[in-house]
Amino acid sequence: MCGIIGYIGHRNVEEVLLKGLQTLEYRGYDSAGVVLLDSNGTAQVQKCVGKVQNLIVQCKKAPVNDALCGMGHTRWATHGGVTNLNAHPHQSGKVTLIHNGIIENYQELANEYHLADQVISETDTEVVAALLNRFYEGDPVKTIRTVASKLKGTYAFGIIFSDIKDKLFAIRHVSPIIAGVGKDKKEAFLSSDVTALSEYVADYFVIPEDVVTILEAGKITLLDACDQEVFVNHLTIDWETGAIGKNGYEFYMEKEIMEQPQVIVNTVMPRCKDGLPDLSVDHIPDDIWTKYEKITIIACGTAMHAGLVAKNLMQSLLRLPVTVEIASEYIYSDPVIDDTTLVIAISQSGETIDTLEAVRYARKHGADNLSIVNVKGSTIARESQFVLYTNAGPEIAVASTKAYITQLVSLYILICQMAYMRGIFLKEKAMQFMSSLLALPGQIEQVLADRASVHALTKDMIGAKDLFMIGRGLDYTALLEGSLKLKEISYIHSEAYASGELKHGTIALITPETPVITLITQKKLASKELSNAIEVKARGAKVVMLTTKAIPLEDPSQWEHIYYLPALPSEFMIFPAVVALQLIAFYVSKEKGLDVDKPRNLAKVVTVE
Ligand code: F6R
Repeated sequence: MCGIIGYIGHRNVEEVLLKGLQTLEYRGYDSAGVVLLDSNGTAQVQKCVGKVQNLIVQCKKAPVNDALCGMGHTRWATHGGVTNLNAHPHQSGKVTLIHNGIIENYQELANEYHLADQVISETDTEVVAALLNRFYEGDPVKTIRTVASKLKGTYAFGIIFSDIKDKLFAIRHVSPIIAGVGKDKKEAFLSSDVTALSEYVADYFVIPEDVVTILEAGKITLLDACDQEVFVNHLTIDWETGAIGKNGYEFYMEKEIMEQPQVIVNTVMPRCKDGLPDLSVDHIPDDIWTKYEKITIIACGTAMHAGLVAKNLMQSLLRLPVTVEIASEYIYSDPVIDDTTLVIAISQSGETIDTLEAVRYARKHGADNLSIVNVKGSTIARESQFVLYTNAGPEIAVASTKAYITQLVSLYILICQMAYMRGIFLKEKAMQFMSSLLALPGQIEQVLADRASVHALTKDMIGAKDLFMIGRGLDYTALLEGSLKLKEISYIHSEAYASGELKHGTIALITPETPVITLITQKKLASKELSNAIEVKARGAKVVMLTTKAIPLEDPSQWEHIYYLPALPSEFMIFPAVVALQLIAFYVSKEKGLDVDKPRNLAKVVTVE
């Protein structure tokens, strides 16, 4: 969703902002803009719809080389369509404003303060710019506080007052924003995202809510409502700048798929001691593993699919009742929350607003909560009782791959720890389970090395309008994820279906034009999955089968497209299977000539409900 970058210092401001916006592109956006405050006190705005590249071309026509500070923004439209006029920054008199979030009462404010004739766009943001200008009489901090007190909704604002050339201002409510002083202590940065800062700062902090933030070259001051300075904890950047590049790959998604063996190692190794699970690195108290009678998992999209895998295993291995809740539904479903339930939230970004609200709701109603998060210091991480960080590193492609795999391995470690502490796994079994996790990188490498064969399976999928993925049990959960990957980046309507359910209606959609992927890796379900695959084949569907040599097939030659995954214990088959499905989605999207990393309408970080 929207991205923010702000800079004050000795570098070429325009260059820093445009480069920062390119780094933020992965979040998803539809227009971009910058404001540059020059030495005459003129705040020059450039903005346009489409890619940051369009903005770069536009800026080159009228470069501002003497800017003292500036801000950039990528917009993901909420209020008002995708137009140049609606793009940020917005200006009103001496005020220039960029905004992430949604102001709910902007129309009321526009009416109350008679701002209609000063607002030309359809945005909530421009109303706030006009309001700031209305109240501004030379004291920026007072003005920001006054206006913020009138707003309902969520916001992270970057603000320039054109008569103040040596300062940038910021304030936030709910929507996250971070800031940091440059390594040389002579510059300061503001951003919605640590990826845009990693080149320049050694550490950064999350701006606390409702605190006015003043950025000067080499200094950042935070002031509370009583004008007292606020001091906050700083977070160190532990991601290499290089980790944010494409490393020679054409697409981030490809690079991130290929990184999966390594990120599994990075996530499992710190949590394995003497062959057993060991979560001391996460400072989670031991009683959490034995205390609860029920588990609720809350998450969205891919992260929710990781939760479904955990549900399957927690039920079968731990005999614990588990519910998986779509986070956006959770708080509206009157969930039953009590102190016998552990709420586990899963989120790559740690900023997904639905998941955050669900965590807040659960905690407010007395639940204990553990979150599995990738981005360090993110809002969900900060607001959770306990956090387990997946060590996936920065994930830039909109379609999640390596973060998902680390969510899975984290959940597997939790399951092993719970089983061991509850006496369900004896030491030897727990060690065997952990060693199966540690063997995964090598087994996934095999699928990656053989990716040309996976590519060959996609021949009939490129031109398809609809596609089905069928399987049962853990295979079905893997297909839900594979199907989401395919639809989001290839725009093919794809449905993952529990294969036993097909003949209760949906099989009517199967025709020779409907490719079907069947995943058959679970020994106890294989014969039934196979029968279901035969049923769709009999209706003319072109079937691609993903299976393993450990599953006996009566007549393999009847399957034209068959791919053998490495044979692992049933509960671990999901790992190579999902990697193959990620590759299928990737190749279909690439063959169709689509923007693999930035699919239409999607944002990497979903900060609106
Ligand atoms: C799909 C995808 C999304 C995210 C979802 C939750 O490839 O990435 O479905 O999984 O938006 O995001 P996080 O994990 O950041 O909470």
